[in-house]
Amino acid sequence: MKSITILAIETSCDETAAAIVVDGRQILSNVIYSQIPLHQTYGGVVPELASRNHLIKIAEVVEQALEQANLSFEAIDAVAVTKGPGLVGALLVGVSYGKALAYALGKPLIGVHHIMGHICANFLVYPDLKPPFVTLIASGGHTTLALCSDYTEFRVIGRTRDDAIGEAFDKVARTLGLGYPGGPLIDDLALKGNREAIAFPRTYLEKDSFDFSFSGIKSAVLNWINQAQMKGLPFNPADVAASFQEAIMDVVLEKTVRASQQLGQKTVVVAGGVAANTRLRERLKAVEGLQALFPPVALCTDNAAMIAAAAYFQYQKGQFDDLSLNASPVLKLG
Ligand code: KG4
Ligand code: ZN
Repeated sequence: MKSITILAIETSCDETAAAIVVDGRQILSNVIYSQIPLHQTYGGVVPELASRNHLIKIAEVVEQALEQANLSFEAIDAVAVTKGPGLVGALLVGVSYGKALAYALGKPLIGVHHIMGHICANFLVYPDLKPPFVTLIASGGHTTLALCSDYTEFRVIGRTRDDAIGEAFDKVARTLGLGYPGGPLIDDLALKGNREAIAFPRTYLEKDSFDFSFSGIKSAVLNWINQAQMKGLPFNPADVAASFQEAIMDVVLEKTVRASQQLGQKTVVVAGGVAANTRLRERLKAVEGLQALFPPVALCTDNAAMIAAAAYFQYQKGQFDDLSLNASPVLKLG
């Protein structure tokens, strides 16, 4: 069978990325231009700044991806691009560029769901991984539990009702004065803290629910810090980070393990930026009878290799897009 080489573009948030992947599994190049330093001054992503910088960088990043793979445009079998969800202006840069490129090259165009991309990052590193499996998507914009029944089919069984898990990490980090993005900084700081120092609330919602809610714990941590500061009581930020992280992980673990039991799946595939979290990895991997898979840290956060991997499975099913493809800032999975 002829192998399929896909060039993918990802611009949904603050990374301008392009990658070339063969057959959804073999990375030839994976170029990421991170805008994080640009947004750090503002403590979070500034959408207008993100789109403007995607526009400046996109052509260069795509050319670098080809150069590193030692390929020409003609060698590509299809052009894939993240169509959503994400920041509309940021997505539009990638979608417009991808459409123009596919048109100019006369190659098929494949619009990819960003979250499906995150899940497919795992196919790049686990050659034997096949659906069905349970997947936990934990990122800056999403917290979702789903059954992946086929490479392109997902049934969502739970999602956050308010903040995403990464958002909670980022807000707590900001209050602790740690900077942006907060997840990795909390992760590091928590290693030096006592997980049992502060009893922050665990929100499990209804007994059978697979939904999440993180706004309660986020507010509880912010209030606790404010109270301590107002009263002039000294505290150890590492204890706050460790206790917050542990409260979050208790809930995530209970729901993920219950989902795997209820759906009769032993494999749990974790995806998204928060999949980089040390404590999440440690705790989920320690669950007996469960095979917890995580992408390497570099493939957890936004990249285009994961988009190319997802696009390959769409290619196999003949799921192509035409030039009416548009950016969809709000796009449901499944
Ligand atoms: O998947 P991603 O790159 O972007 C979205 O699609 O949202 O995820 C970014 C999120 C940020 O909220 C960041 O703070 C969080 O992932 N994150 C982490 C870690 N590394 C990144 N959260 C906890 N622990 C980490 N090590
Ligand atoms: Zn993402």
